[in-house]
Amino acid sequence: MSDRTITRRIRGTDTSDGAGVKLKRIIGQPGLDMLDPFLLLDEFRSDSADDYIAGFPEHPHRGFETVTYMLAGHMRHGDNHGNRGDLTPGSVQWMTAGRGILHSEMPQQENGLMWGFQLWVNLPAKDKMTAPRYQDIAPERIPVVHPADGVEVKVIAGELAGATGPVEGIATAPVYLDVSLQPGARFALALPVGHHGFTYVFEGESALVGGERLQRSELGVLSDGEQLQLAGGDKPSRLLVVAGKSLNEPVARYGPFVMNTQAQIHEAITDFRAGRF
Ligand code: FE2
Repeated sequence: MSDRTITRRIRGTDTSDGAGVKLKRIIGQPGLDMLDPFLLLDEFRSDSADDYIAGFPEHPHRGFETVTYMLAGHMRHGDNHGNRGDLTPGSVQWMTAGRGILHSEMPQQENGLMWGFQLWVNLPAKDKMTAPRYQDIAPERIPVVHPADGVEVKVIAGELAGATGPVEGIATAPVYLDVSLQPGARFALALPVGHHGFTYVFEGESALVGGERLQRSELGVLSDGEQLQLAGGDKPSRLLVVAGKSLNEPVARYGPFVMNTQAQIHEAITDFRAGRF
């Protein structure tokens, strides 16, 4: 079995988005523009309401998918097609924006911790104008497996230890795992060969990824291979392991529109202004 290793390490940059929500942008910044099919990864984490209270008022998306994984806090989602949903701790929303939606994501709390991730996953050219689709996944639908002593994994997408994540029918056949490792724990995780992947440590101090220490708030881009060796650090740690099939298609990107050509971007802007979302 060939092992995946870390080929690059990236730390997020501090930025803000929406109406002024402070966050760390890890993918989608100069240090790592994209990791096909992943266009963006943000971690938002603050227990100061000033950092999140303004939320993400109505804004458009076209041509890709947004995946929100909440760790703490409560946001309410709503779009212009009448879809509503609550993002509560441990829940996942996999939104296929397709040809376009206008939506908002607004905090439902005035204090306390708000923590989670948003990942943008590209759509293949043939699916960019598909009908919008939501997969709102409550925490209890996410299988929890223990593939080795001291290892607990929430399987959000993909397969592990006989469990299949609830996210279905996604073109890039994604793997999205939330892995908790106790000190001394170790296991090998099979990942589809050819998938581009990364790990990101978000709790604890560090973990061993492909035999190398990855610090908290550090993203490791993975080489190709059949499996990834993971081991705990000196303290309990938690990390995302995410992988997806690369699309190898041209990317034309303008804010919340991600298409294949500049002409399609102009079309998106025209459609948005004309109220065709
Ligand atoms: Fe959004």
